[in-house]
Amino acid sequence: MRSTRFSGPFNRRSWLAALAGSMALPSLAGATTRPEITLRFSHVVAEETPKGLAANRFKVLVEQRSGHRIGVQVYPNAQLYGDHDEMQALQLGAVDLVAPSLSKFGRIGLPEFELFDLPFLFDDLNAVRRITLGPLGKKLLQGLSRQGLVGLGFFDNGFKQMSANRPLLELKDFAGLRMRVQASRVIAAQMRALGARPVTLPFSETRRALAAGVVDGTENPVSNFWTQAMHEVQTDLSLTEHGYLGYAVVTNQRFWQHLQPDDRALINQALQESLAFANQIADTQNDRALQALRQAGTTRIHHLGVDQRARLRQAVQPVQQQLADRIGPRWMSDLEQALRQA
Ligand code: LMR
Repeated sequence: MRSTRFSGPFNRRSWLAALAGSMALPSLAGATTRPEITLRFSHVVAEETPKGLAANRFKVLVEQRSGHRIGVQVYPNAQLYGDHDEMQALQLGAVDLVAPSLSKFGRIGLPEFELFDLPFLFDDLNAVRRITLGPLGKKLLQGLSRQGLVGLGFFDNGFKQMSANRPLLELKDFAGLRMRVQASRVIAAQMRALGARPVTLPFSETRRALAAGVVDGTENPVSNFWTQAMHEVQTDLSLTEHGYLGYAVVTNQRFWQHLQPDDRALINQALQESLAFANQIADTQNDRALQALRQAGTTRIHHLGVDQRARLRQAVQPVQQQLADRIGPRWMSDLEQALRQA
């Protein structure tokens, strides 16, 4: 097929010129210029999620503002690295940016981040942002330097729901269920307090494990549930809103320090705007996913009554006390104070 096309009145050069004539020349020029720096941004979720959309927005802003001198290569869906190796890859410099869930920092020696996993801690996203956009959030990000990392900022996905092949409305409904969880001691304790058995698995293996019956259920905001097609292997989604899922964007200290100051400023500005964008769209993305789920009609969606939610909340209340030492008494008292401030 190829040879016919190029052998006619058009030779390759004139064909490319003709093509250039029909497309926006700047992009051709930009696209063919090899960027001086290419940032590798790896994450584990789909593109149609708050994180996926924020990463793509970041790419567009950096490339546009640097005139394509700086490129961004985004690797979604754990294509490059997954939950089990993305942090190590970052520390080794094999990737430049990751945006793990806040639940995944405990296992690399930063248990204070598991404060975000405390069940029923935040009434709404405003309460979350009193932490993430306030002095406590800043202190948490500074702590990443202990692991040779630089924390660049936080952003939301939203509140988690529970899924299984039965409604999860009362404590008895959780009895004996194997529930997939992120590698967080707080979330594991939450599941045990509900009478379920926590099973830690990488995100990218969750749907397969549900389909194979290795686990019976899981927890996640609807945008993750929908974009991973978990609705095809779970008959019931219970809108518990029992916990928060958010992220921190992290880079490697050496990489960040070696950037030219102007480039670092450009990248950081583009990132801060992309995080603000993610926070703006997070709710909408989850609402859209819930709507799509309703339309798909494969999964029964259950709303909890006020009393039902209060009973679940009471059952997991002891988790805060149990894990306070792990998170750190100082962090716990700062958290309480920050949440009290209206
Ligand atoms: C999970 O592992 O369930 C989530 O943290 C995935 C993600 O990054 O949203």
